[in-house]
Amino acid sequence: MSATTTTGGRHFLQIPGPTNVPDRVLRAMAAPTIDHRGPEFAALGLEVLEAVKPVFGTTQPVVFYPASGTGAWEAALTNTLSPGDEVLAFETGHFATLWREMAERLGLRVTFVPGDWRHGADPDAARERLAADTGHAIKAVMVVHNETSTGVTSRVAEVRRALDDAGHPALLLVDTISSLGSIEYRHDEWGVDVTVAGSQKGLMLPPGLSFNAVSEKALQASKTAGLPRSFFDWQPILAANERGFWPYTPATNLLYGLREALTMMAEEGLPQVYARHTRHAEATRAAVRGWGLEVLALDEREFSGSLTAIWMPDGGADAVRGVILREYDMSLGAGLGKLADKVFRIGHLGHFNDLTLVGTLGGVQMGLTRAGVQVDPQGIQAALERLQQP
Ligand SMILES: Cc1ncc(COP(=O)(O)O)c(C=O)c1O
Repeated sequence: MSATTTTGGRHFLQIPGPTNVPDRVLRAMAAPTIDHRGPEFAALGLEVLEAVKPVFGTTQPVVFYPASGTGAWEAALTNTLSPGDEVLAFETGHFATLWREMAERLGLRVTFVPGDWRHGADPDAARERLAADTGHAIKAVMVVHNETSTGVTSRVAEVRRALDDAGHPALLLVDTISSLGSIEYRHDEWGVDVTVAGSQKGLMLPPGLSFNAVSEKALQASKTAGLPRSFFDWQPILAANERGFWPYTPATNLLYGLREALTMMAEEGLPQVYARHTRHAEATRAAVRGWGLEVLALDEREFSGSLTAIWMPDGGADAVRGVILREYDMSLGAGLGKLADKVFRIGHLGHFNDLTLVGTLGGVQMGLTRAGVQVDPQGIQAALERLQQP
């Protein structure tokens, strides 16, 4: 163990999810598990089913699953599409690639618009592809709102406009797993048909819950969608939800946690939650540039509020993360897929404040230096200056 290693203090979990769970949420979950078919549970179920809607920007139903986000990805596809259907997706990074692979395994035909993993879904490419599809073979457009592998946020409202400009009836399916509760999102206003989300990032909960917010058009599509589904079928869940129940045993204690997390978000105010994330992302980028390093995202309209990926094209990112974990007890996100060892990712989402950011960036700066990466030590000062402003 090195002289600087400390075992005191809390571990810094600064991966872009799972995120740090607030003590209030942990305490809320540390309650006796109750009868999931009894009246106390029904009240909890009805409360959280309603309270979650503003975070999605919807008044329409939100389906909950005791599953990780991957389950909600599968639910979005199997409830709306049929074998052999064509879907349009965008190569924004590792998660877009995984979702595409799932779609193909389920028997869908995916047109995957190529990308460089430094930009979001291109609304112009969407407009072009949809306008060319005069026979309306494309049944759905899949977009990852915040690509967690790159720190790039796609402009979903503009993709919606592309669908409208082309007069195309395809469903719009959006993954908000690392944006919901961190980056402003409007399921209804943006005409999204299925929004996919998970518990373990902006919602400040442990992993284990995931969601589909569902439009009326998606509900109609589910009546004729031919992909096989059982556990993920919306219809029996929505029917049981009317009285606050689920057709199977729900994740009771995670729902206690969700109730508390939603209360915390309502107390802070959603606009304030989003502004906090934007501000911390700006301060992080100021530090990265101050160090003389590069942010992976290239288009400032697409900078992520929930994480920042730092570009180390010559490799060495894993060594930096290793030093930071060993010396400073902080976990940072690894480069995924083709970005392995070429980026490391700082999560600045969820239960997070100015001093958490200063500690995080301090650890990154010390770790970079210790790993032998030449950085300007004034980098963190640039972040502090940003944090002096509202
Ligand atoms: C954007 C995005 N989509 C999908 C997933 C997969 O979710 P899970 O790991 O919860 O199954 C993740 C996980 O990090 C993600 O960040």
